[in-house]
Amino acid sequence: MDARSLWLILAIVAVSKSTGVAPRLKLNDGKEIPALGLGTWLGFTKEGTRVPVQGDEVENAVQWAIDAGYRHIDTAAIYNTELQVGRAVNKKIAEGVIKREDVFITTKLWNTRHAKEDVVPALKESLQKLNLTYVDLYLIHWPISESEDQKFLDIDYVDTWRGMEEARAQGLTRSIGVSNFNQAQLERLISLTNSKPASLQIEINLNLQQPDLLAYCKRQGILVTGYTPFGSLFSDKTTEEVPPPRADDTSLVAIAQKYNKTVAQIALRYEVELGVIPIPKSIHKKRIEQNINVFDFELTQEERDVLKAFDKNYRVIAATHWKGSPHYPFEKN
Ligand SMILES: NC(=O)c1ccc[n+]([C@@H]2O[C@H](COP(=O)([O-])OP(=O)(O)OC[C@H]3O[C@@H](n4cnc5c(N)ncnc54)[C@H](OP(=O)(O)O)[C@@H]3O)[C@@H](O)[C@H]2O)c1
Ligand SMILES: *[C@@H]1O[C@H](CO)[C@@H](O)[C@H](O)[C@H]1NC(C)=O
Ligand SMILES: *[C@@H]1O[C@H](CO)[C@@H](O)[C@H](O)[C@H]1NC(C)=O
Repeated sequence: MDARSLWLILAIVAVSKSTGVAPRLKLNDGKEIPALGLGTWLGFTKEGTRVPVQGDEVENAVQWAIDAGYRHIDTAAIYNTELQVGRAVNKKIAEGVIKREDVFITTKLWNTRHAKEDVVPALKESLQKLNLTYVDLYLIHWPISESEDQKFLDIDYVDTWRGMEEARAQGLTRSIGVSNFNQAQLERLISLTNSKPASLQIEINLNLQQPDLLAYCKRQGILVTGYTPFGSLFSDKTTEEVPPPRADDTSLVAIAQKYNKTVAQIALRYEVELGVIPIPKSIHKKRIEQNINVFDFELTQEERDVLKAFDKNYRVIAATHWKGSPHYPFEKN
């Protein structure tokens, strides 16, 4: 081997160590989705309002993510981050780092746009903010329908789905799916429409592993995207009453040390091994790089059993203010 080829190989090894590559999984409509993505919701403040976007923080996060190897970005109309996601993606396309078809963009229809004829206009507004001609996946964000002044409306999500199908037929999105639907709602949607969501996006983390819903989706060929993958791991983001584990849990730390990984990476890897597509959010470069670096090791069955035992059916996102809706998807007690 000459010096130049050796240098090239070393360079490739160095790059592949500092960036991550998530394998692509096949959706039931034949399209492909990368097995991990970047979340771009900034969360709630202590007062329960949405954290406002500051400066270019999301645009920077998405650029760092693409440089680190992410090819899947999750946003939503309600997050108010579509503009910055779009700027970052278009910048990386202009720089030649990616082509549009290399990156999988998900956005979501908000509760106030559930009328069938509202879906296409709502997606067009998102596309304008994203500065894209299509998204890869459009999701009904919640089965719940509300008016602008936050009164529950009696719009059936099956009607909303007809609007989603129209959006796909117009080429505005490649795939369509739903978020925060329970199994009964999925069954009803599938039986009444004779079509299947490409993906279900739900909360999945150590405290909320939802084995029955995952098994149902597997039988139906619906890939599950897992939101809030860190659950209540980080003490600064949770309160004492919330069930453990935290990131300093001794059994988690032991597993992390064995693989020279962080506890955050162990939580993400576990989800990947459950067949779930995690979409961790961070606006910090080092964490963004760390979070996709989970495809070079595998947990043992014994370790998976330890992680499984943390399941308590405890939700971070219980959306209890929507309990009054006829389509509230979660347990009401
Ligand atoms: N469909 C839905 O209804 C729904 C609901 C909730 C979320 N989502 C989607 O899912 C995404 C992820 O969920 P999420 O944002 O609720 O929670 P998450 O990704 O589980 O946690 C995000 C928090 O963890 C911190 N963090 C990230 N990586 C870390 C690391 N390696 N070490 C330590 N701390 C780390 C982040 O802080 P920094 O940013 O400061 O690093 C942030 O505060 C959202 O952004 C959104 O795209 C969807
Ligand atoms: C929108 O995208 C196009 C094509 O990628 C790009 O030339 C243009 O600068 C973008 N506009 C904005 C406002 O980002
Ligand atoms: C452990 O991981 C860190 C961060 O990825 C890396 O810099 C270091 O070289 C690794 N150590 C070993 C022994 O692999």
